[in-house]
Amino acid sequence: MSPALPEGDVAPDDGRLPASALEGADERAFGVYLHVPFCTVRCGYCDFNTYTATELGGGASQHAYADTALREIALAASVLPPRPVQTVFVGGGTPTVLSVPDLSRMLGGVRDAWGLADDVEVTTEANPDSVTPESLAALADAGFTRVSFGMQSAVPHVLATLDRTHDPRRIPDVVRWARDAGLAVSLDLIYGTPGESLDDWRTSVESALATGVDHVSAYALVVEAGTRMAVQVRRGELELPDGDDQAAKYELADDLFEAAGLGWYEVSNWARTPADACRHNLSYWRGDDWWGIGPGAHSHVGGVRWWNVKHPRAYADRLDRGLSPAAGRETVTGDGALLERLMLGVRLAGGLSLDALPEDARPSVAGLVADGLVDGREAIQGRRIVLTRRGRLLADAVVRTLAG
Ligand SMILES: C[S@@+](CC[C@H](N)C(=O)[O-])C[C@H]1O[C@@H](n2cnc3c(N)ncnc32)[C@H](O)[C@@H]1O
Ligand code: SF4
Repeated sequence: MSPALPEGDVAPDDGRLPASALEGADERAFGVYLHVPFCTVRCGYCDFNTYTATELGGGASQHAYADTALREIALAASVLPPRPVQTVFVGGGTPTVLSVPDLSRMLGGVRDAWGLADDVEVTTEANPDSVTPESLAALADAGFTRVSFGMQSAVPHVLATLDRTHDPRRIPDVVRWARDAGLAVSLDLIYGTPGESLDDWRTSVESALATGVDHVSAYALVVEAGTRMAVQVRRGELELPDGDDQAAKYELADDLFEAAGLGWYEVSNWARTPADACRHNLSYWRGDDWWGIGPGAHSHVGGVRWWNVKHPRAYADRLDRGLSPAAGRETVTGDGALLERLMLGVRLAGGLSLDALPEDARPSVAGLVADGLVDGREAIQGRRIVLTRRGRLLADAVVRTLAG
């Protein structure tokens, strides 16, 4: 289903945070993630914490979910004093399997708990076959500002391998409906699906760009252990592409996005202008504060990180009993904090200040520049570590080198 949660320390039943986490909170950006753990069909490659009606069995119904999530929001509001929420991201799962009134009530709960910033960004993820012109207009009326569609590919045989149910011809329509409703639009693409040729991938990227969207995310397919796709690969029914194929597809996408006026701002994300970037995701990479509502959701406030129980039934049980759904937590300090800062910061086009590196890691930067992984001019003149395109392909290796 999805990876096991970390071990961590015991989290208190009332959800209280250590005083240290709240110090200086007003100075830090604050976002809310709302997890919706439901999908109509499970895609064979996906190990997100999400459940179809069959997988869910009895209890923890979709219909009761908004009320359950509102209970966690109320608990969070009792722990974290009001401060304007800059970004809300409703993800999943497939948030749009819930009704717009339910999504709207959850957003209303966040508004009542902390207040929303005047320029708040409110995104929902959506499957292309789970929206209509009316539902998108209703989302905009409810206060949503942005929608991110799981397009994945424009090529029918690739979509079939991914178990996607939507008709790719619907993509231009859903983008137009969303824009007509006044929503900013992003498309998610996946590259490296078994059987996908370079031309198939070109078709997908060109189709995404033809819609005129201002934001695209492109992810390399990860075959997660325990998924149906992992079984198909193990049995030899599906053949995975090699690393060169993935790299060629990343480079092709980057070329096509750049030529269409979308620049990378994070290794897997491209936007037309800085204002089109996803501010919510940027806040994760910058290490801001966020509260994750929902089963399995992770939160981070002032260096304290915690995670909720994973199953929707266990989540609802705890909230019904007036208890925090947190399953464990940890305070990120020392080497762990440094590694996290490196892993997140290095992925951004804005890079990472050399001053953020410990003294003993700085000599390794010259080697990374010599290997063509880090931009030499940025390192010398800007005192920043900014990945070259080759570096973006090997971002994890760069982090390992920097972390020593
Ligand atoms: C929660 S889903 C988006 C919303 C919706 N459920 C959908 O799939 O259309 C988030 C995104 O994660 C990406 N994703 C999920 N599993 C992945 C995997 N194993 N490898 C690469 N990308 C993956 C997909 O691009 C997907 O659009
Ligand atoms: S629809 Fe999205 S969240 Fe649901 S199983 Fe497919 S990729 Fe995962």
